Amino acid sequence: MTRGDEPLRVPASKRPLLVVADVAATYESAIIALSDVTMTVREGEMVALLGANGSGKTTTLRAISRLLSAERGQVTRGSIAFDGASTLRLGPADVVALGVAQVLEGRRCFPSLTVEENLVVGAVGGGARRRLVADGLQRVYNYFPRLAEKRRVAAGLCSGGEQQMTAIGRALMANPRCLLLDEPTIGLAPLVARELFAFLRVLNREEGVTVLVAEQNATLALRYADRAYVLEHGTVVLEGPAAELRLRDDIKHFYLGLGDSTASNASRSAFDRAARQRGRTDSSREYRAG
Ligand SMILES: Nc1ncnc2c1ncn2[C@@H]1O[C@H](COP(=O)(O)OP(=O)(O)OP(=O)(O)O)[C@@H](O)[C@H]1O
Ligand SMILES: [Mg+2]
Repeated sequence: MTRGDEPLRVPASKRPLLVVADVAATYESAIIALSDVTMTVREGEMVALLGANGSGKTTTLRAISRLLSAERGQVTRGSIAFDGASTLRLGPADVVALGVAQVLEGRRCFPSLTVEENLVVGAVGGGARRRLVADGLQRVYNYFPRLAEKRRVAAGLCSGGEQQMTAIGRALMANPRCLLLDEPTIGLAPLVARELFAFLRVLNREEGVTVLVAEQNATLALRYADRAYVLEHGTVVLEGPAAELRLRDDIKHFYLGLGDSTASNASRSAFDRAARQRGRTDSSREYRAG
């Protein structure tokens, strides 16, 4: 994988690309999974979506990619727009065609298909022209030379890191403007996880692909992302530049289960108050911690 630890050079454009406003969602018309999710991802940004187990990260991504109904879930309030157009009446394939591709949680390769067959599945429309498929494969193999070596190997026989590269490569075959990833580093060795995030940043900075990545490894995500949103019980409770969140031990401790355990309850209450005061429909406001 390519390395991407060098300081940022290309400033993110300010144009909102993905706007999620005041979204609530349920499963089985009964289980409330999201109660107030408002977030904006600007074109060219890499944004992390953080939060504990069950906080609503996957549901938020499924709402964006229109995969909720497959899980007997639905958006019950709010709006989601990509590049100015509402996505709430679209099907999952329409969202991919708009330029949003999702890498699902858990790699999701077809184990008995070869790496290359897994990649080809991601080319938009089964009848995508051969030339486009060949170009897409070449692009993916340039990003992940290891996949070129394993192109004829069954995906199920590849390492966890290689399967995750295959899953990401498959999403890239659709040539997306915006890539959604659901906990891509789960189960990967720390070095491989770091390489994966370094790759995402190269993709973001050099190819201009906007990235929204749900991740439980907040330390890693905050090192590479521009900004982050933190979910708690289906609500965005905190947002801000990753560089700021990264330095705040109290935030890391209370919201992300990391960092200095001596941070005071007073800080937590202050954050909670600030979170409650956030406008429910203001999709662009950023809460600046401290
Ligand atoms: N398919 C489903 N059917 C019913 N309830 C669900 C389903 N998927 C998620 N939920 C519930 O919705 C809430 C949000 O879950 P979600 O999977 O979005 O959280 P998450 O932040 O992705 O968690 P994790 O870190 O464990 O992946 C939880 O209460 C969860 O139990
Ligand atoms: Mg999840």
